[in-house]
Amino acid sequence: MEKTALTKNMTEYYDETCAMLASVTEGVPYTMTNLANASALLNERMDGINWVGFYVIKDGKLVLGPFQGKVACTIIPLGKGVCGTAAQSDRTQVVPDVHKFAGHIACDSASNSEIVVPVHRDGAVFGVLDIDSPLFDRFSEEDRTGLEKFVKVLEEVI
Ligand code: SME
Repeated sequence: MEKTALTKNMTEYYDETCAMLASVTEGVPYTMTNLANASALLNERMDGINWVGFYVIKDGKLVLGPFQGKVACTIIPLGKGVCGTAAQSDRTQVVPDVHKFAGHIACDSASNSEIVVPVHRDGAVFGVLDIDSPLFDRFSEEDRTGLEKFVKVLEEVI
């Protein structure tokens, strides 16, 4: 498939995913509920992933929130691991090979690549969306753009 066609398909796919999130969260004023459905929606819609969920900042640390996947580490200090790096720097982290990321925290030994997108509330980092894959280099620029859009929709309802 041509790169432009792939990009167009990915844009449509993420726009559709965002519309589904907007629909499922409409009129729901509960943060945890919306985070839970957001993780379930991504789990249903994304291929080649083994963990998707949220860590939210509590008492200056990232604490495990709603997720889909295996039991995961519960507390991650800011600045540690891929999640702590994303939260502290307020920048999306795309890691093609987690084994080459200094300080990566292995929750599921099946994970080989990862993307972490900061989530904001009231103008500050509220937590992160974390997605793991057993495939190397699973997350493309189109995934980054699409997931950042997804998080923008989510930020309206948390
Ligand atoms: N790998 C993450 C830890 C969380 S799990 O992947 C669910 C990290 O390095 O921050």
